[in-house]
Amino acid sequence: MNNLISTPADFAQKNQANHLAELIRFLQIPSISTQPDHAADVAAAADWLAKAMRDAGIENVRVIETNRHPLLYGDWLHAGPDAPTVLIYGHYDVQPVDPLDLWESDPFEPVVRDDYLYARGASDDKGQVYVHIKAVEAYLKVNGRLPVNVKFIIEGEEESGGESLSAFIPANKELLAADIALVSDTGILAPDQPAIVYGLRGMCYMLMDVTGPARDLHSGSFGGGIDNPINALSHIIARLKDENGHVLIPGFYDRVRPLSSDERELLSQLPRDENKWLAEAGAPQLWGESEFTLTERIGARPTLDVNGIIGGYTGPGGKTVLPAKAHAKISMRLVPDQDPQEIAALFQKYVQEIAPPTVKVEISVMHTAPASVTDYSIPAMKAAAAAYEQVFGKRPVYMREGGSIPVVGEFQTYLGLETVLMGFGLPGDRIHSPNERFYVPNFYKGIQTSIRFLEEYAEQM
Ligand code: BES
Ligand code: MN
Ligand code: MN
Repeated sequence: MNNLISTPADFAQKNQANHLAELIRFLQIPSISTQPDHAADVAAAADWLAKAMRDAGIENVRVIETNRHPLLYGDWLHAGPDAPTVLIYGHYDVQPVDPLDLWESDPFEPVVRDDYLYARGASDDKGQVYVHIKAVEAYLKVNGRLPVNVKFIIEGEEESGGESLSAFIPANKELLAADIALVSDTGILAPDQPAIVYGLRGMCYMLMDVTGPARDLHSGSFGGGIDNPINALSHIIARLKDENGHVLIPGFYDRVRPLSSDERELLSQLPRDENKWLAEAGAPQLWGESEFTLTERIGARPTLDVNGIIGGYTGPGGKTVLPAKAHAKISMRLVPDQDPQEIAALFQKYVQEIAPPTVKVEISVMHTAPASVTDYSIPAMKAAAAAYEQVFGKRPVYMREGGSIPVVGEFQTYLGLETVLMGFGLPGDRIHSPNERFYVPNFYKGIQTSIRFLEEYAEQM
């Protein structure tokens, strides 16, 4: 090792250009997990990452085949019998890129513009998972050891349900046993304002298929005498929630754990600029349950949204048709202690009750994930706060995130593991949208923060 390099932090600092170049190669692989024609790319991304892990000095690296996309495991377990073990999770799969015409540069030809690296997966989650591989590498290359034991479990199905990892966890409790899980798949508030996410929403994703006549009909000959599945679907959707954002499914709110006044106070301290947040969304105005603050509505309240509607004629020009079928994809974001299976059943029951007898409505559950909250006073949270403060120069704020990371609830349930969500994304990263990007200074600071976290956590334990 170059004797001018004295510490892991120094090593990471001096290798920034290499780290960025490597991340760019990782981002060139279009590992879109939900689209079957990209399966080979997903496998290629797994192999690429496995090699990067081995090159970093991580041991026992395995590409684990599943019914769908491979899982990656690796570890380094020589920190000594008293040292704690950190289980680092991330995902190497990415979201689809459509609408492609809205991208300013090719989603899989990463480019840096104004300190942002533009590519699908840059922030969610390839850039963030790579942070930890580089942090571990810095320790192993400079010191030949880590202050803690480390295990990695990295999946390729997070963006499309995560079934393989859900099955793997309960069957491999010993392999994955650890003291804490560490996940970078969330964001901070601003480049100079780090944030620890202590809660995630859960998910209940439903598919609704509405069938009317046996085939598409002439809307003049049959319109007025036969119900239209798209209209029927619209009526059902209109009854799912009111104008104020309140979900109308009976029992939906029964298990929602009320927010304590302490927590409302904590959340009210978030320095969120609502106008900036609205400008980022680009919508005409804010919306939602008026009895809750914006921060509460997007992190700590359950919601229901239609993600997509399919049906009828959408090609150029008009076509006078009364379609045979209509479909909707509907997701509900859940909070503790809502049970995803129970919510799915309530949804099904209610929709069947309000569905008109003039159409047939079939409902299926696509995927579910439990919500999670973590006590923000545990040692690992303190270690994360100290690491953020040292690298970003500012104490982190605490917040709940509206998105879902299904594995966090599963770590709690099957491994008894709490998760520290130490993210490095920004609200403007456009994850799942065109022109996804990662703020390059946050990539470098992320590596430094991970290096600090492992040291701080070893000291706390
Ligand atoms: N990284 C996100 C979760 C997230 C979203 C964190 C927004 C912070 C802000 C994750 O990759 C994701 O997109 N999760 C899906 C899960 C779903 C497919 C079960 C989500 O939240 O839609
Ligand atoms: Mn993610
Ligand atoms: Mn995502």
